[in-house]
Amino acid sequence: MCKILVTDGMNNNAINNLRKLNIEVEHKFYDGLELGERLQDKDILVIRSKNVITKAIIDKACEGNTLKLIIRSGVGLDNIDVKYANEKGIRVVNTPNASTRSVAELTIGQIFTISRFINISNITMRNGQWNKKQYVGTEVFDKTLGIIGLGRIGKTVAKMAHDLGMKVIYYDILGEMIGYQNYTFCSFEEVLKNADFLTIHIPLEIDQEYLITKKEFNMMKDRVYFINHARGGLVCEKDLIEALDNGKIEAAALDVYEKEPQINPELVNHPMVSITPHLGASTVEAQERIGNEIVKIVYNFLEEETINDMKIAL
Ligand code: 3PG
Repeated sequence: MCKILVTDGMNNNAINNLRKLNIEVEHKFYDGLELGERLQDKDILVIRSKNVITKAIIDKACEGNTLKLIIRSGVGLDNIDVKYANEKGIRVVNTPNASTRSVAELTIGQIFTISRFINISNITMRNGQWNKKQYVGTEVFDKTLGIIGLGRIGKTVAKMAHDLGMKVIYYDILGEMIGYQNYTFCSFEEVLKNADFLTIHIPLEIDQEYLITKKEFNMMKDRVYFINHARGGLVCEKDLIEALDNGKIEAAALDVYEKEPQINPELVNHPMVSITPHLGASTVEAQERIGNEIVKIVYNFLEEETINDMKIAL
C-alpha cells in the first residue's frame, strides 16, 4: 500500500480522493529530523513552504529506503534541496499552474491598497484618527508598472494591469516574449528606472544573492510603489526600510519575508508597508486546483510504479 505524508495542509477533497485510491494518508506537521524519521516508511511527501527539506532530512528519510517522490504543493522549490533529493533517487515535482490567478489577484489588490492608503487607514481609523487630508493617493491609470519576471504569474499580473489602463514594462531572463506586444520588454535597469509601480515575480534560486538592494532602489524613480510577492530572499529588507524612509519607495506591499515566519518588526510596522503572511496561494480555488493536481501526480506515480513492478516481475 502506498503511504503519503502531508505535513502542511491539503484540500480535504483531494485527501479523500487519495484515500479512495487506497492510499494511506497521514496528515500531520513534522519538521527537522523527526520529519526524516516519519518518512522512513512513506513513499510520498507533500509539503508547502513551511518545511525546509535539507540534506540531513533526506538522509534520515533514506534510511527507510521507501521515499520516492516529494510533491511541493505550490510553486517555489527553494525550500527543497532538489539536487540532493534527485541524487538520492527521489523525484521532486511542484504544481506550477494552480495558484497563478490567486497570486496575481493579490498583487493587483495590494497595488490598490498601497496607492490609496487602504492599509494604513485601517490602522489609524481604529485608533480614532480621521486622516482624510494626509491620505491623498494616486490612480493607477496611465502609470507604468514594471514587472520583473514575465512567467505565469507575471503575465497574469501584466494582463490585469493592462486592462486597468497601466503601461506595462517588463524584464525577463529569457528575453522578449513573443505574443506580448502590449507590454514593453526592457533591460532590468530600464525597468527599475522607469517603473512607477514595481512588482517581482521570479523564483529564488539556491545561494542567490539579493536582486534588490540599496543600489537597485537608488536606480528607481522617487516615490515608487514596490510589491514583493515572490520570495523574501530577493529583497534586502534593511535596504527596503532605508528606501521607505528616504522616499525612494513611497509604499511597499509584502507577502514574503527574508526569514519566515519571523518578521522584521521595523519593516512590518512601517506605516507605508502593507503586509500579508505569505497568502499568495491561500485561496479556496488555488488550493482546490493544487489538490486536484496532486491527485493526478500521485495517480500517474502509482501507474508508473505498477508498470515498473510488472517489468521487474517479467
Ligand atoms: C508557492 O510557492 O506556491 C507560494 O509561495 C505559496 O506557498 P505556500 O504553499 O506555502 O502557501
